Amino acid sequence: MNANTLSRPLKSRRSSGLRGTALVPGDKSISHRALIFGALAVGQTEITGLLEAEDVLNTAEAMRAFGATVVRKGTGVWSVKGRGVGGWAEPSDVLDFGNSGTGSRLVMGAMATSPITAVFTGDASLRVRPMARVLDPLTEFGATYTARERGLMPVTVSGAKQPICVDHHVAVASAQVKSALLLAALNAPGRSRIAQSALTRDHTEKMLAAFGAEISVEPLDQGEAVFLTGEVELKPCAVDVPRDPSSAAFAMVAALIVSGSDIRIPAVLLNPRRTGLITTLIEMGGHILIENERESGGEKIGDLVVRSSALKGIEVPPERAPSMIDEYPILGVAAAFAEGRTVMRGLEELRVKESDRLAAIAAGLKANGLTTSETHDSLAIEGRGPDGVPGGARVATHMDHRIAMSFLAMGLASKEAVSVDDTAMIATSFPEFEKLMRDLGADFQQVNS
Ligand code: S3P
Repeated sequence: MNANTLSRPLKSRRSSGLRGTALVPGDKSISHRALIFGALAVGQTEITGLLEAEDVLNTAEAMRAFGATVVRKGTGVWSVKGRGVGGWAEPSDVLDFGNSGTGSRLVMGAMATSPITAVFTGDASLRVRPMARVLDPLTEFGATYTARERGLMPVTVSGAKQPICVDHHVAVASAQVKSALLLAALNAPGRSRIAQSALTRDHTEKMLAAFGAEISVEPLDQGEAVFLTGEVELKPCAVDVPRDPSSAAFAMVAALIVSGSDIRIPAVLLNPRRTGLITTLIEMGGHILIENERESGGEKIGDLVVRSSALKGIEVPPERAPSMIDEYPILGVAAAFAEGRTVMRGLEELRVKESDRLAAIAAGLKANGLTTSETHDSLAIEGRGPDGVPGGARVATHMDHRIAMSFLAMGLASKEAVSVDDTAMIATSFPEFEKLMRDLGADFQQVNS
């Protein structure tokens, strides 16, 4: 998103019961990977259900810049003709990843063991997010980089001419970093070992196996070690992208807090590394039923039935954080409508998301009459019960799509309307959000900037 784009504020008002079926778009993590892995395979990868949001479209554009043929054949239906591991061409211009940490970091890894140079940049939010967490480990493969101070974008990466395999322990609980290193390892001779002390999302491991990589996983203390043999030829694959649980989260919480609601969210990805929010909301007393559990493209999916519920505050354990890392903003909203205190710990990674999400959630809640307390890695929220949230404030979204969608959900059940200063960033992950919520019965009103 261009910093010069005019802001688009929106107001959300107390609504009567949300009803109907919410078809949320394809999973963002799997969509990025489908395009990148397709570009690394030899032959044609066919994708259905691709998320057509700005973040993913920027990754598609980057794959074209590296020489892959990427074609949109219909809504969510794409094909990618790859150039093979180690076969990417050098982009002739700067790559702009917009708002996307996932797209940019995974692509840094994917090109870091090829003898080409690429320049990475993004929007004002991405240009203050830490890249050294990916770039420093990539130097162990033989890549080099230059960046602004503290490893900030714009960044220039020169891939290793003679890559070597690595044994690396990832210091942060980040699937992006783990994935970037696994992608780099694809073109490094020998067997790389990438270890991590947390169980972060495993889409890269599962999808690389489906594309024919030699990959295995061993448990390790609180986490695991992934082994990958390099210099492989990836085979193209059919990828059917399941619907995104991180997007479903907004409709889910809105239905829990708006009285008289009863909605259905079909065919949502239920990978156990992504279901922390569902577990937490059920512990809080949320009525969430999972129906028709089934497998699709190697992932568990199911239909969610969500009804308005009396929620109670709980302690969310820190080890659950990786499985719901993108869902804390909307959990903060659920906690506001619960009876009693909710405490969330292990949140240090929230400080380096599309915004400092810990600060943005706390500030938005406080502005709307909630009492919160915050440390560097925790947030406690005093719930006001189903009818007790004052609302009435305009929330600063700090270029963060999930902050915008969360506080719009809040306004559907608070006493006074809640507005957000900008909705433009919602298009980075969930362009259909406004319409989908309105179709369920959400009362959103345009306001002047
Ligand atoms: C993602 C991993 C998470 C998540 C992001 C998508 C991925 O980031 O916040 O939205 O697709 O690997 P971290 O791995 O940096 O926590």
